[in-house]
Amino acid sequence: PSSIGVLTSGGDAAGMNPAVRAVIRTALHHGIDAYAIHEGYQGLVEGGEFIRRMEIADTDGILHKGGTAIGTARSQKFRTREGRRAAARNMLERGIDALVVIGGDGSLTGANMFRAEWAELLAELVDAGEVTRDVADAHPFLRLVGLVGSIDNDMSGTDMTIGADTALHRIVEAMDALRSTASSHQRSFVVEVMGRHCGYLALMASLATAANWVLIPEQPPADDWAEQMCRDIRAGRLIGRRQSVVVVAEGAEDREGNPITAEQIRKLLEDELGEDTRITTLGHVQRGGSPSAFDRYLATQLGCAAVERLLTDDPQTPAQLIGLRGNRVVTSPLMECVEQTRAVAERIKARDYDGAMLLRGGSFRQ
Ligand code: F6P
Repeated sequence: PSSIGVLTSGGDAAGMNPAVRAVIRTALHHGIDAYAIHEGYQGLVEGGEFIRRMEIADTDGILHKGGTAIGTARSQKFRTREGRRAAARNMLERGIDALVVIGGDGSLTGANMFRAEWAELLAELVDAGEVTRDVADAHPFLRLVGLVGSIDNDMSGTDMTIGADTALHRIVEAMDALRSTASSHQRSFVVEVMGRHCGYLALMASLATAANWVLIPEQPPADDWAEQMCRDIRAGRLIGRRQSVVVVAEGAEDREGNPITAEQIRKLLEDELGEDTRITTLGHVQRGGSPSAFDRYLATQLGCAAVERLLTDDPQTPAQLIGLRGNRVVTSPLMECVEQTRAVAERIKARDYDGAMLLRGGSFRQ
């Protein structure tokens, strides 16, 4: 490719900035023009000022910053054919025929659809006189690499998504703080943790803080979970514990598929045990703030690898996802990862799994 574009899409995640920085710097290092596409797919569709050519200096001072400096947005227009045609035209105007997309599975699936349509979009642009045949012929394929940026750690193809480690640190820090106030008042706390349909953050935070109970979507509790939980919390009090903490993942469900809510747990603890109970919903604080050292390192490695793949792969290679597995940077076909992620989610929903499926890297994997 002569020019590479990079964009962030979907929910922001700490580590997106180091990833963008690494993509731009690696491209420039190889003598390739690098463009930052601001506000995700919306910027790709709008063009103009949204697509900015980057120099090394433009990436200074963003490594340690949370969120994404180039913005992220949900774009309805990119979901339409017309929007994607505009996006292709904006890219061709700058000679961009390679993209690094940093986002969750929805964003990466959208990018793959764009890639699959590329030739048709170009033909339509040529027919409409918006792009010359020479330009279209010079960029017959769209090269695409995805990096998973999400605090949820809910995607196959990588043991860790960019942002999950930072969010986990944030949760642990908050839970440590809650313990001291809980202990002072001999209270119970119910802490609601993000993660959408994935229990990674809730489970890891519980292990890291020795929570007394945890409820996650991947493992709906036994039907008598309320009695079990109350029994355990009561037993803790009897041996002199001054506080109890129950962690509930936002996607937690019972065996019938009914959501288990923080309020439901609070009421149980108060009604059954007379516990003075407070709820803390950590919310978007989990997504914000400076990336952890691990996320900086992970994002930098993956960002570099993404550009290396775009430079060395055959232009017709299907879209790839770069991730970290077993502490190594690995590349897998993007759509296989998306499909595996969905298949695992279906199996969890259908309760079609057993102990052979491991909780690794955010979701049950085979
Ligand atoms: O996917 C990241 C995430 O933070 C989830 O954990 C959460 O369910 C969701 O996004 C919140 O979305 P929004 O920022 O749109 O409220």
